Amino acid sequence: MKPLLKNSIYALCLYLPVFMAQAAPLYLQQLESAAIDEKKLQEAHKQIKDYSKITLKEDLFVPPFHNQNPAQATDKNSFCSTCHLLPPHTKNKRKRSFLNMHSQYISCETCHFQPENVQLEYRWLNFNDNSNKNSAQNSNNKRITPFYNNEAVIIFVDHELATQVKQIWQKESADKELSTEESPTHKLSTEVILEKARLKLRIHSPLGKKGPKCIDCHNNKDPFLDLVSLGFDEKEISKLQQHSISRFFGRYTKDGTKNEQRLRMTDLLQ
Ligand code: HEC
Ligand code: HEC
Ligand code: HEC
Repeated sequence: MKPLLKNSIYALCLYLPVFMAQAAPLYLQQLESAAIDEKKLQEAHKQIKDYSKITLKEDLFVPPFHNQNPAQATDKNSFCSTCHLLPPHTKNKRKRSFLNMHSQYISCETCHFQPENVQLEYRWLNFNDNSNKNSAQNSNNKRITPFYNNEAVIIFVDHELATQVKQIWQKESADKELSTEESPTHKLSTEVILEKARLKLRIHSPLGKKGPKCIDCHNNKDPFLDLVSLGFDEKEISKLQQHSISRFFGRYTKDGTKNEQRLRMTDLLQ
């Protein structure tokens, strides 16, 4: 292991214990206890080096047909939105619109937080409310969220850790502007890249790269979510469990190649 990497791996742990005084949300506890290995760090290092921020086009010639609800913008967002755009999914052309649609009513952590040996429960949480307690299905801006010991496992973008993360995350752009391959600021930039790689790795250590498959939730044998306890009625449940779109994705096991990612109406109607 390169000494540079070794010395700094645990730097992020330094401020985490501050939040551990009260029973911290499970996601934070898992960050704290994650084992971080060199291979994963190298991987994260490469991701950060290759990372380029997505900038959204403004003043489109043709305004978006589906206008965003302006109230949505003031909603409390997940911690993940400190760095990820909302909607977050871009890479899988075939699934991304469905995944992004789900992130309006299912928290990121429901699909991505996958701790070992922990039994999670899934309940509605109001994202406009400061509490980590569950709320009714019909309250505003609620999302299905993992709970542990009657507390939501997640933190929000207004959490102190998010503020600290943002400071590290924003450092980069300033450095990137200053530094070129040959310039003296390049060294500083390398350190920032490393700092960000460690941060990325730790934040994602309790997270899965992929969420459950469509069919894991949309089936009536052993569904990932208990739709009855979430308050769905019989009719809604049978609609969700037999939905032709999720069944289509279940049949379509091959993830489309780079050239072939289209969805055909005829495939859906089979
Ligand atoms: C400090 C910034 C930051 C935060 C906070 C953050 N991410 Fe990420 N995330 C990244 C970067 C950088 C990548 C890699 C580049 C990319 O894919 O955009 C990434 C990649 C991912 C990936 C792809 C798999 C992987 O690990 O590379 C998933 C899934 C993901 N993030 C989910 C989440 C979720 C869920 C949260 C909130 C619990 C979250 N992220 C919070 C920066 C962040
Ligand atoms: C309904 C489940 C679900 C929800 C909710 C969800 N994801 Fe994902 N996410 C997935 C799946 C499945 C994949 C893998 C897609 C693929 O096959 O490539 C994925 C992939 C990703 C990736 C890597 C691929 C990409 O397109 O960049 C990132 C980053 C990510 N998710 C972030 C998030 C964030 C942030 C949230 C919350 C705002 C979130 N996800 C909510 C299921 C979900
Ligand atoms: C974590 C569980 C979960 C996963 C994974 C998931 N879904 Fe869903 N999906 C739901 C829930 C719950 C709803 C209903 C939300 C509501 O109505 O409040 C839903 C709603 C839908 C709907 C709208 C149903 C309607 O007619 O109102 C479609 C279509 C759908 N999902 C397709 C998919 C596809 C395609 C995938 C995979 C890319 C997927 N789902 C993955 C849980 C999931």
